[in-house]
Amino acid sequence: MSQLQNEPTTVWKDVTLLTMTEGYGLIRDGAIAAKDGKIVWLGYAQDLPEAYADAEIISGGGHYLTPGLIDCHTHLVYGGSRVTEFEKRLSSMSYEDIAREGGGILSTVRATRNTDEDMLYLSAENRLAHLQRNGVTTVEIKSGYGLDLDNELKMLRVARKLGRKPDIDVVTSFLGAHAVPPEFEGDSNGFMDYLSGEILDAVMRENLADAVDAFCENIAFNTDQIEILFTKARERGLPVKLHAEQLSNSGGTILAAEYQALSADHLECLDEEGVKYMAAAGMVAVLLPGAFYTLRDDRIPPIELFRKHAVPMAVASDSNPGSSPVLSLTLMVNMASTLFRLTPEEALAGVTRNAAQALGLHDRGILEVGRKADFALWDISHPAELAYHVGGNPCVAIVKNGVPF
Ligand code: NIG
Ligand code: FE
Repeated sequence: MSQLQNEPTTVWKDVTLLTMTEGYGLIRDGAIAAKDGKIVWLGYAQDLPEAYADAEIISGGGHYLTPGLIDCHTHLVYGGSRVTEFEKRLSSMSYEDIAREGGGILSTVRATRNTDEDMLYLSAENRLAHLQRNGVTTVEIKSGYGLDLDNELKMLRVARKLGRKPDIDVVTSFLGAHAVPPEFEGDSNGFMDYLSGEILDAVMRENLADAVDAFCENIAFNTDQIEILFTKARERGLPVKLHAEQLSNSGGTILAAEYQALSADHLECLDEEGVKYMAAAGMVAVLLPGAFYTLRDDRIPPIELFRKHAVPMAVASDSNPGSSPVLSLTLMVNMASTLFRLTPEEALAGVTRNAAQALGLHDRGILEVGRKADFALWDISHPAELAYHVGGNPCVAIVKNGVPF
Protein backbone atom coordinates (compact mmCIF):
# COMPACT_ATOMS: atom_id res chain seq x y z
CA MET A 1 0.00 0.00 0.00
CA SER A 2 1.32 3.44 -0.83
CA GLN A 3 1.90 5.93 1.91
CA LEU A 4 -0.88 8.10 0.53
CA GLN A 5 -3.44 5.40 0.96
CA ASN A 6 -2.38 5.14 4.60
CA GLU A 7 -3.19 8.78 5.29
CA PRO A 8 -5.77 8.89 8.07
CA THR A 9 -9.33 9.90 7.29
CA THR A 10 -10.70 12.91 9.14
CA VAL A 11 -14.41 13.42 9.79
CA TRP A 12 -16.02 16.73 10.76
CA LYS A 13 -19.21 16.19 12.75
CA ASP A 14 -21.65 18.48 14.48
CA VAL A 15 -21.87 20.78 11.46
CA THR A 16 -24.55 22.17 9.18
CA LEU A 17 -23.28 21.67 5.64
CA LEU A 18 -23.92 24.12 2.83
CA THR A 19 -22.81 22.02 -0.13
CA MET A 20 -23.56 24.80 -2.67
CA THR A 21 -24.17 22.13 -5.33
CA GLU A 22 -27.57 23.64 -6.05
CA GLY A 23 -28.89 26.51 -4.00
CA TYR A 24 -27.43 26.29 -0.52
CA GLY A 25 -27.63 22.48 -0.46
CA LEU A 26 -28.26 22.60 3.28
CA ILE A 27 -27.67 19.44 5.35
CA ARG A 28 -28.41 19.89 9.05
CA ASP A 29 -26.67 17.54 11.53
CA GLY A 30 -24.20 16.72 8.80
CA ALA A 31 -20.79 15.11 8.63
CA ILE A 32 -18.03 15.32 6.05
CA ALA A 33 -15.02 13.04 5.66
CA ALA A 34 -11.70 13.87 3.98
CA LYS A 35 -8.74 11.72 3.01
CA ASP A 36 -5.63 12.63 1.03
CA GLY A 37 -6.93 16.18 0.65
CA LYS A 38 -10.24 15.21 -0.92
CA ILE A 39 -13.81 14.76 0.22
CA VAL A 40 -14.56 11.02 0.50
CA TRP A 41 -18.01 11.13 2.08
CA LEU A 42 -20.64 13.63 3.18
CA GLY A 43 -24.22 13.45 4.34
CA TYR A 44 -26.29 13.23 7.52
CA ALA A 45 -24.11 12.27 10.50
CA GLN A 46 -26.49 9.43 11.36
CA ASP A 47 -25.71 7.84 7.97
CA LEU A 48 -21.92 7.94 8.40
CA PRO A 49 -20.71 4.49 7.29
CA GLU A 50 -19.18 2.06 9.81
CA ALA A 51 -15.94 2.21 7.81
CA TYR A 52 -15.26 5.64 9.33
CA ALA A 53 -15.43 4.36 12.92
CA ASP A 54 -11.63 4.62 13.27
CA ALA A 55 -11.32 8.01 11.60
CA GLU A 56 -10.10 11.05 13.45
CA ILE A 57 -13.23 12.96 14.51
CA ILE A 58 -13.26 16.75 14.72
CA SER A 59 -16.25 18.51 16.22
CA GLY A 60 -17.45 21.44 14.14
CA GLY A 61 -18.97 22.91 17.29
CA GLY A 62 -22.41 23.25 15.73
CA HIS A 63 -21.06 25.68 13.13
CA TYR A 64 -21.91 25.96 9.44
CA LEU A 65 -19.40 24.43 7.03
CA THR A 66 -19.15 25.71 3.45
CA PRO A 67 -16.68 25.15 0.63
CA GLY A 68 -13.58 27.28 1.24
CA LEU A 69 -14.27 30.67 -0.31
CA ILE A 70 -12.66 31.55 -3.65
CA ASP A 71 -11.68 35.14 -4.39
CA CYS A 72 -11.45 35.02 -8.19
CA HIS A 73 -10.27 38.60 -8.90
CA THR A 74 -7.58 40.40 -6.89
CA HIS A 75 -4.59 42.67 -7.38
CA LEU A 76 -3.08 41.71 -4.00
CA VAL A 77 0.58 42.20 -4.93
CA TYR A 78 1.62 45.86 -5.12
CA GLY A 79 3.94 48.43 -3.59
CA GLY A 80 3.00 51.61 -1.79
CA SER A 81 -0.42 52.91 -0.93
CA ARG A 82 -3.00 55.18 -2.56
CA VAL A 83 -4.44 56.66 0.59
CA THR A 84 -3.71 60.22 -0.52
CA GLU A 85 -5.67 59.61 -3.73
CA PHE A 86 -8.50 58.37 -1.62
CA GLU A 87 -8.47 61.76 0.07
CA LYS A 88 -8.39 63.54 -3.31
CA ARG A 89 -11.38 61.58 -4.51
CA LEU A 90 -13.24 62.70 -1.40
CA SER A 91 -12.71 66.29 -2.49
CA SER A 92 -14.35 65.74 -5.88
CA MET A 93 -11.62 64.43 -8.24
CA SER A 94 -12.78 61.36 -10.15
CA TYR A 95 -10.88 58.08 -10.60
CA GLU A 96 -10.50 58.91 -14.30
CA ASP A 97 -9.20 62.46 -13.58
CA ILE A 98 -6.59 61.05 -11.22
CA ALA A 99 -5.55 58.43 -13.78
CA ARG A 100 -5.22 61.11 -16.50
CA GLU A 101 -2.86 63.19 -14.40
CA GLY A 102 -0.50 60.24 -13.89
CA GLY A 103 -1.88 59.02 -10.58
CA GLY A 104 -4.07 55.99 -10.19
CA ILE A 105 -2.64 52.76 -11.54
CA LEU A 106 0.57 54.53 -12.63
CA SER A 107 1.37 55.73 -9.12
CA THR A 108 1.17 52.12 -7.95
CA VAL A 109 3.38 51.13 -10.89
CA ARG A 110 6.07 53.54 -9.66
CA ALA A 111 5.81 52.22 -6.11
CA THR A 112 5.80 48.58 -7.22
CA ARG A 113 8.87 49.05 -9.41
CA ASN A 114 10.65 50.53 -6.38
CA THR A 115 9.76 47.67 -4.04
CA ASP A 116 11.84 44.51 -3.96
CA GLU A 117 10.45 41.00 -4.16
CA ASP A 118 10.74 40.27 -0.44
CA MET A 119 8.92 43.44 0.57
CA LEU A 120 6.21 42.84 -2.01
CA TYR A 121 5.82 39.32 -0.65
CA LEU A 122 5.47 40.48 2.95
CA SER A 123 2.88 43.16 2.23
CA ALA A 124 0.82 40.85 0.00
CA GLU A 125 1.08 38.06 2.56
CA ASN A 126 -0.34 40.40 5.16
CA ARG A 127 -3.32 41.36 2.96
CA LEU A 128 -3.85 37.74 2.00
CA ALA A 129 -3.98 36.77 5.69
CA HIS A 130 -7.02 39.02 6.12
CA LEU A 131 -8.82 37.24 3.29
CA GLN A 132 -7.84 33.83 4.65
CA ARG A 133 -9.06 34.58 8.15
CA ASN A 134 -12.36 35.41 6.48
CA GLY A 135 -12.71 31.99 4.84
CA VAL A 136 -10.71 32.21 1.59
CA THR A 137 -8.79 29.07 0.57
CA THR A 138 -8.18 29.93 -3.12
CA VAL A 139 -7.27 33.33 -4.49
CA GLU A 140 -6.52 34.72 -7.91
CA ILE A 141 -3.73 37.32 -8.09
CA LYS A 142 -2.97 39.53 -11.09
CA SER A 143 0.19 41.30 -12.20
CA GLY A 144 -0.25 44.70 -13.84
CA TYR A 145 1.68 47.14 -11.66
CA GLY A 146 5.06 46.27 -13.16
CA LEU A 147 4.42 47.00 -16.85
CA ASP A 148 7.93 46.04 -17.91
CA LEU A 149 9.69 42.72 -18.19
CA ASP A 150 11.45 42.60 -14.82
CA ASN A 151 8.64 44.03 -12.78
CA GLU A 152 5.81 41.99 -14.27
CA LEU A 153 7.88 38.84 -13.66
CA LYS A 154 8.66 40.04 -10.14
CA MET A 155 4.96 40.43 -9.31
CA LEU A 156 4.06 37.04 -10.73
CA ARG A 157 6.91 35.33 -8.88
CA VAL A 158 5.63 36.83 -5.64
CA ALA A 159 2.14 35.52 -6.41
CA ARG A 160 3.50 32.05 -7.20
CA LYS A 161 5.52 32.08 -3.97
CA LEU A 162 2.38 32.95 -1.96
CA GLY A 163 0.79 29.89 -3.54
CA ARG A 164 3.43 27.67 -1.94
CA LYS A 165 1.95 28.35 1.50
CA PRO A 166 0.13 25.25 2.73
CA ASP A 167 -3.17 26.97 3.51
CA ILE A 168 -3.89 28.72 0.20
CA ASP A 169 -3.94 28.05 -3.53
CA VAL A 170 -3.01 30.96 -5.77
CA VAL A 171 -4.08 31.22 -9.40
CA THR A 172 -2.18 33.89 -11.34
CA SER A 173 -3.18 36.17 -14.22
CA PHE A 174 -0.81 38.17 -16.39
CA LEU A 175 -2.34 41.67 -16.54
CA GLY A 176 0.46 43.51 -18.37
CA ALA A 177 -2.29 45.28 -20.35
CA HIS A 178 -3.43 47.25 -17.31
CA ALA A 179 -2.10 50.71 -18.23
CA VAL A 180 0.45 52.25 -20.59
CA PRO A 181 3.69 52.92 -18.67
CA PRO A 182 5.44 56.33 -18.98
CA GLU A 183 8.22 54.98 -21.22
CA PHE A 184 5.55 54.09 -23.83
CA GLU A 185 3.48 57.26 -23.41
CA GLY A 186 1.68 57.98 -26.69
CA ASP A 187 2.60 54.55 -28.07
CA SER A 188 0.12 52.11 -26.64
CA ASN A 189 0.40 49.97 -29.80
CA GLY A 190 4.15 49.67 -29.28
CA PHE A 191 3.55 48.71 -25.67
CA MET A 192 1.04 46.06 -26.72
CA ASP A 193 3.61 44.53 -29.09
CA TYR A 194 6.19 44.43 -26.30
CA LEU A 195 3.67 42.89 -23.88
CA SER A 196 2.36 40.23 -26.18
CA GLY A 197 5.84 39.43 -27.47
CA GLU A 198 8.84 39.65 -25.17
CA ILE A 199 7.03 39.82 -21.83
CA LEU A 200 4.48 37.09 -22.56
CA ASP A 201 7.33 34.87 -23.83
CA ALA A 202 9.19 35.26 -20.54
CA VAL A 203 6.03 34.73 -18.49
CA MET A 204 5.44 31.47 -20.37
CA ARG A 205 9.06 30.33 -20.03
CA GLU A 206 8.88 30.64 -16.26
CA ASN A 207 5.33 29.24 -16.13
CA LEU A 208 4.21 32.27 -14.16
CA ALA A 209 0.65 32.76 -15.43
CA ASP A 210 -2.48 30.63 -15.46
CA ALA A 211 -4.42 33.14 -17.58
CA VAL A 212 -4.11 36.45 -19.42
CA ASP A 213 -6.18 39.47 -18.39
CA ALA A 214 -6.45 43.02 -19.75
CA PHE A 215 -8.19 46.30 -18.98
CA CYS A 216 -10.49 47.33 -21.83
CA GLU A 217 -11.50 50.95 -21.29
CA ASN A 218 -11.06 54.38 -22.83
CA ILE A 219 -8.40 55.12 -20.17
CA ALA A 220 -6.64 51.82 -20.93
CA PHE A 221 -6.68 49.57 -24.05
CA ASN A 222 -9.13 49.25 -26.94
CA THR A 223 -10.50 46.03 -28.38
CA ASP A 224 -8.12 46.01 -31.39
CA GLN A 225 -5.13 46.13 -29.08
CA ILE A 226 -6.50 43.50 -26.74
CA GLU A 227 -7.19 41.23 -29.67
CA ILE A 228 -3.44 41.10 -30.41
CA LEU A 229 -2.76 39.95 -26.86
CA PHE A 230 -5.64 37.45 -26.77
CA THR A 231 -4.51 35.92 -30.06
CA LYS A 232 -1.03 35.36 -28.61
CA ALA A 233 -2.48 33.97 -25.39
CA ARG A 234 -4.64 31.52 -27.27
CA GLU A 235 -1.74 30.38 -29.47
CA ARG A 236 0.03 29.50 -26.25
CA GLY A 237 -2.92 27.72 -24.73
CA LEU A 238 -3.57 30.27 -21.99
CA PRO A 239 -7.19 31.16 -21.14
CA VAL A 240 -8.18 34.81 -21.19
CA LYS A 241 -10.43 37.06 -19.10
CA LEU A 242 -11.13 40.77 -19.22
CA HIS A 243 -11.81 43.88 -17.14
CA ALA A 244 -14.70 45.09 -19.26
CA GLU A 245 -17.54 47.60 -19.38
CA GLN A 246 -16.60 49.14 -16.03
CA LEU A 247 -16.68 52.85 -16.87
CA SER A 248 -18.12 52.72 -20.40
CA ASN A 249 -19.53 50.20 -22.88
CA SER A 250 -16.37 49.64 -24.93
CA GLY A 251 -17.16 46.27 -26.53
CA GLY A 252 -14.64 44.31 -24.48
CA THR A 253 -17.10 41.67 -23.34
CA ILE A 254 -18.02 40.70 -26.90
CA LEU A 255 -14.35 40.44 -27.81
CA ALA A 256 -13.74 38.31 -24.71
CA ALA A 257 -16.62 36.03 -25.71
CA GLU A 258 -15.09 35.60 -29.16
CA TYR A 259 -11.98 34.29 -27.39
CA GLN A 260 -14.02 31.99 -25.10
CA ALA A 261 -12.88 33.94 -22.06
CA LEU A 262 -13.37 32.44 -18.63
CA SER A 263 -14.98 35.62 -17.40
CA ALA A 264 -15.66 39.28 -17.96
CA ASP A 265 -15.31 41.36 -14.83
CA HIS A 266 -16.94 44.59 -13.53
CA LEU A 267 -19.64 44.96 -16.26
CA GLU A 268 -21.54 47.93 -14.83
CA CYS A 269 -22.09 49.29 -18.38
CA LEU A 270 -22.87 45.99 -20.15
CA ASP A 271 -25.98 45.74 -22.35
CA GLU A 272 -28.16 42.77 -23.29
CA GLU A 273 -26.25 42.00 -26.48
CA GLY A 274 -23.08 41.56 -24.44
CA VAL A 275 -24.90 39.36 -21.92
CA LYS A 276 -26.09 37.11 -24.76
CA TYR A 277 -22.53 36.74 -26.03
CA MET A 278 -21.41 35.78 -22.52
CA ALA A 279 -24.13 33.16 -22.26
CA ALA A 280 -23.25 31.65 -25.64
CA ALA A 281 -19.55 31.50 -24.73
CA GLY A 282 -20.21 29.95 -21.28
CA MET A 283 -18.55 32.87 -19.51
CA VAL A 284 -18.90 33.90 -15.88
CA ALA A 285 -19.84 37.47 -14.93
CA VAL A 286 -17.49 38.52 -12.14
CA LEU A 287 -19.13 41.22 -10.04
CA LEU A 288 -16.92 43.57 -8.04
CA PRO A 289 -19.07 45.51 -5.61
CA GLY A 290 -16.03 46.86 -3.75
CA ALA A 291 -14.98 48.90 -6.80
CA PHE A 292 -18.57 49.99 -7.41
CA TYR A 293 -18.78 51.14 -3.79
CA THR A 294 -15.37 52.80 -3.59
CA LEU A 295 -15.85 54.72 -6.85
CA ARG A 296 -19.41 55.57 -5.83
CA ASP A 297 -20.63 54.29 -9.16
CA ASP A 298 -24.32 54.73 -9.89
CA ARG A 299 -24.83 52.03 -12.54
CA ILE A 300 -25.19 48.49 -11.29
CA PRO A 301 -24.29 45.50 -13.49
CA PRO A 302 -27.28 44.04 -15.40
CA ILE A 303 -28.16 41.40 -12.80
CA GLU A 304 -31.64 40.70 -14.21
CA LEU A 305 -30.15 40.04 -17.65
CA PHE A 306 -27.57 37.64 -16.20
CA ARG A 307 -30.43 35.75 -14.58
CA LYS A 308 -32.53 35.85 -17.75
CA HIS A 309 -29.71 34.43 -19.91
CA ALA A 310 -28.38 32.08 -17.19
CA VAL A 311 -24.92 33.65 -17.00
CA PRO A 312 -23.35 32.49 -13.72
CA MET A 313 -22.40 35.36 -11.42
CA ALA A 314 -19.24 35.30 -9.31
CA VAL A 315 -18.41 37.88 -6.65
CA ALA A 316 -14.84 38.96 -5.88
CA SER A 317 -12.95 41.53 -3.85
CA ASP A 318 -10.93 43.17 -6.68
CA SER A 319 -8.58 43.90 -3.78
CA ASN A 320 -6.30 46.68 -5.05
CA PRO A 321 -4.85 49.93 -3.70
CA GLY A 322 -7.03 52.25 -5.78
CA SER A 323 -10.53 51.33 -6.74
CA SER A 324 -11.16 48.59 -4.19
CA PRO A 325 -9.00 48.47 -1.07
CA VAL A 326 -10.99 45.49 0.20
CA LEU A 327 -9.79 42.87 2.64
CA SER A 328 -12.95 40.86 3.31
CA LEU A 329 -14.82 38.62 0.90
CA THR A 330 -17.87 38.26 3.16
CA LEU A 331 -18.18 42.05 3.04
CA MET A 332 -18.41 41.63 -0.76
CA VAL A 333 -21.13 39.01 -0.24
CA ASN A 334 -22.97 41.64 1.78
CA MET A 335 -22.43 44.37 -0.82
CA ALA A 336 -23.39 42.07 -3.71
CA SER A 337 -26.70 41.57 -1.92
CA THR A 338 -27.29 45.09 -0.67
CA LEU A 339 -25.93 47.09 -3.62
CA PHE A 340 -26.49 44.70 -6.55
CA ARG A 341 -29.62 42.97 -5.18
CA LEU A 342 -28.26 39.43 -5.45
CA THR A 343 -30.03 37.02 -3.15
CA PRO A 344 -27.76 35.86 -0.30
CA GLU A 345 -27.80 32.44 -1.93
CA GLU A 346 -26.62 33.86 -5.28
CA ALA A 347 -23.97 35.93 -3.53
CA LEU A 348 -22.62 32.86 -1.69
CA ALA A 349 -22.61 30.86 -4.94
CA GLY A 350 -20.61 33.82 -6.28
CA VAL A 351 -17.71 33.18 -3.90
CA THR A 352 -17.84 29.38 -4.16
CA ARG A 353 -19.27 27.47 -7.14
CA ASN A 354 -19.26 30.30 -9.69
CA ALA A 355 -15.92 31.68 -8.54
CA ALA A 356 -14.38 28.24 -9.19
CA GLN A 357 -15.86 28.29 -12.69
CA ALA A 358 -14.49 31.80 -13.26
CA LEU A 359 -11.01 30.38 -12.62
CA GLY A 360 -11.60 27.26 -14.70
CA LEU A 361 -11.21 25.10 -11.58
CA HIS A 362 -13.45 22.05 -11.55
CA ASP A 363 -12.06 20.45 -8.42
CA ARG A 364 -13.54 22.85 -5.84
CA GLY A 365 -16.28 25.36 -5.11
CA ILE A 366 -18.88 22.83 -3.95
CA LEU A 367 -18.94 20.07 -1.35
CA GLU A 368 -19.07 16.80 -3.26
CA VAL A 369 -17.20 13.48 -3.09
CA GLY A 370 -13.96 13.77 -5.06
CA ARG A 371 -13.64 17.54 -4.71
CA LYS A 372 -10.89 19.18 -2.71
CA ALA A 373 -11.39 19.18 1.06
CA ASP A 374 -11.25 22.97 1.32
CA PHE A 375 -13.74 24.22 3.90
CA ALA A 376 -14.64 27.29 5.92
CA LEU A 377 -16.48 27.04 9.26
CA TRP A 378 -18.81 29.84 10.30
CA ASP A 379 -20.36 30.92 13.57
CA ILE A 380 -23.80 31.68 12.12
CA SER A 381 -27.29 30.33 12.65
CA HIS A 382 -28.77 30.96 9.19
CA PRO A 383 -27.02 30.79 5.79
CA ALA A 384 -28.13 34.31 4.85
CA GLU A 385 -26.11 35.60 7.79
CA LEU A 386 -23.07 35.35 5.53
CA ALA A 387 -24.62 38.20 3.55
CA TYR A 388 -26.34 39.98 6.41
CA HIS A 389 -23.49 41.30 8.56
CA VAL A 390 -21.70 44.45 7.45
CA GLY A 391 -18.13 43.89 8.61
CA GLY A 392 -17.23 41.56 11.43
CA ASN A 393 -15.93 38.10 10.70
CA PRO A 394 -17.98 35.00 11.48
CA CYS A 395 -15.27 32.64 10.13
CA VAL A 396 -14.00 30.39 12.93
CA ALA A 397 -11.65 28.10 10.98
CA ILE A 398 -10.53 27.05 7.54
CA VAL A 399 -9.54 23.62 6.30
CA LYS A 400 -7.19 23.35 3.32
CA ASN A 401 -6.65 20.03 1.55
CA GLY A 402 -8.20 18.29 4.54
CA VAL A 403 -5.89 20.00 7.06
CA PRO A 404 -7.37 22.38 9.65
CA PHE A 405 -5.74 25.81 10.01
O1 NIG B 1 -9.98 46.19 -11.24
N1 NIG B 1 -9.97 48.37 -13.51
C1 NIG B 1 -8.74 48.30 -13.50
N2 NIG B 1 -8.00 47.80 -12.55
C2 NIG B 1 -8.31 47.76 -11.20
C3 NIG B 1 -7.97 49.04 -10.56
C4 NIG B 1 -6.58 49.06 -10.19
C5 NIG B 1 -6.12 50.31 -9.52
O2 NIG B 1 -6.83 51.34 -9.44
O3 NIG B 1 -4.98 50.25 -9.08
C6 NIG B 1 -9.73 47.33 -10.96
O4 NIG B 1 -10.60 48.09 -10.50
FE1 FE C 1 -9.46 44.44 -11.18
